[in-house]
Amino acid sequence: MKKQVVLYKKLSPLLMARLHEQTEVTLIDSLDAEGLAKMREALPKAQGLLGASLKLDAALLDLAPDLEAIASVSVGVDNYDIDYLTERRILLSNTPDVLTETTADTGFALILASARRVVELANMVRAGHWKRNVGPAQFGTDVHGKTLGIIGMGRIGEALAQRGHFGFGMPVVYHSHSPKPAVEQRFNAQYRSLPQLLQEADFVCLTLPLTAETEGLIGAEQFALMGPETIFINISRGKVVDEVALIDALRKGQIRAAGLDVFEREPLDSASPLLRLDNVVATPHIGSATHETREAMAKCAVDNLLMALAGERPVNLVNGLAWKG
Ligand code: DGY
Repeated sequence: MKKQVVLYKKLSPLLMARLHEQTEVTLIDSLDAEGLAKMREALPKAQGLLGASLKLDAALLDLAPDLEAIASVSVGVDNYDIDYLTERRILLSNTPDVLTETTADTGFALILASARRVVELANMVRAGHWKRNVGPAQFGTDVHGKTLGIIGMGRIGEALAQRGHFGFGMPVVYHSHSPKPAVEQRFNAQYRSLPQLLQEADFVCLTLPLTAETEGLIGAEQFALMGPETIFINISRGKVVDEVALIDALRKGQIRAAGLDVFEREPLDSASPLLRLDNVVATPHIGSATHETREAMAKCAVDNLLMALAGERPVNLVNGLAWKG
C-alpha cells in the first residue's frame, strides 16, 4: 500500500507526478485557517510531510501518530522541535547546498543596494525627483576594498566570502564556533571574536542559523560596538537580532544602513518603523527565491522524503539520532 503524504507546498508538475507515483498525496493549498483544518484532518493517516514556512509544533504533530518523516523545503530548521522529533523517531531532512550560491547572491545584492543606496535613489527617480546631477547628499559608500565581516562561517558564509574576496577585493574577517583554517587559506580570511568583528568590519553580515544559542545574539550592546559607517546585513533569521535595538541604532546613526531579508515577524508589518527609514533595504525573505533554486530545493526535499519512506537514510537527515539504521 502506498504511504500517505501531506504536502503543504505546491510543487512543479514534474515533482508532483513523482510524488503521486509513489505515495498518496493530500495537498494543502494554503496555510490559512481552512488549509490548516484540512491538514489536521489528514495528519492522523500521514506517514510523510513535505513543505516549508510552517511551525510544526507538538500539538500539531501529536495528531500524526504514524508519522515517519518530514522533508522541509528549507535549509533552516528553526520551525521544528528537533528533540521532540528525535524522541518520536521522525526523520527530519532539509535542503542544504542547492541554495548556497543563490542565498549568497541575495546577501551581496543587499550589500550593494545598501552601500550604493540603490532602492532609495531608484525610488527618487521613479517619483520624478531627479532634477539635477546627484551631489554628496545622494552619494553612497564603496563596497570594493572594504572589510567584509561574516558571522557564521557555514556554507553560505563561505559563498559570501568568495564573492567579497575574489570579486570585490575585500579583506574578510569572520566569527564562528571555531576558526576554520581551510576558509582562512582560501579567502585570506581572519578569525575574530564577535566584539572584535563588530568593531572592525565595514559590512557586518549574519549567515548563521537560528538556535537557542543565537536568538537575540545582536542587540543594543552589539550595535554600540559598530561604527557610524557600518552596514548591517541579515540573511539568516530575524530573531537573531533584537529588532527594536536595530531600529534604535539606525535612527541614532549608530550604524549607517541595513539590508534585511529576514525579520522578527514575517511577513513584516507594513507599519514597521524599518519601512520609514531611507537607510533600510528590506526584502521579503527572498534568500533562495529564484525559479532554479526553489525547484532544486523542492526536488531535494522530494528525494529525501521518498528515501525516508522507503526505509533508506535520507541524504540530508538533520536528526541523525532518530535513524534506526
Ligand atoms: C531556508 O531555506 O531556510 C530559507 O531561509 C527559506 O526559509
